[in-house]
Amino acid sequence: MKAIGGLTALLVAALAAPGAALAANVVEGQRIYNQHCIGCHGPGGNSAIPNAPKFARGERLMQPDMILLASIKAGKMTMPSFNGILRDQEILDVIAYLRTLQR
Ligand code: HEC
Repeated sequence: MKAIGGLTALLVAALAAPGAALAANVVEGQRIYNQHCIGCHGPGGNSAIPNAPKFARGERLMQPDMILLASIKAGKMTMPSFNGILRDQEILDVIAYLRTLQR
């Protein structure tokens, strides 16, 4: 696997859940984000609708990956459930991408 984003990839690997076979893939995460999340969370995490957290400001990202995974699978307020739409590994890839957006 390629070392994407150096430190980020390392951190992601370190934080990956026991049982998560692969380190998260940030590039894949970006692709999935642009397909499923960008409509509300906006390009680069600058949210496109009111009430959607701005990941560019790090909003809501101070939580462990496994908690974010559970929230994304369950859905929250107007955010639909992604259970059965995205696999856990795909959601973890997106979370890894979200963590690169903060500036
Ligand atoms: C239909 C609009 C919409 C879409 C599509 C959407 N979200 Fe959200 N998302 C929201 C809103 C609104 C909230 C805030 C919910 C709340 O008030 O707690 C949210 C919250 C979140 C949170 C924070 C959860 C928490 O614990 O507070 C994360 C992480 C997140 N979304 C990730 C994603 C990802 C990843 C995708 C794509 C796979 C996605 N969202 C798609 C609207 C959306």
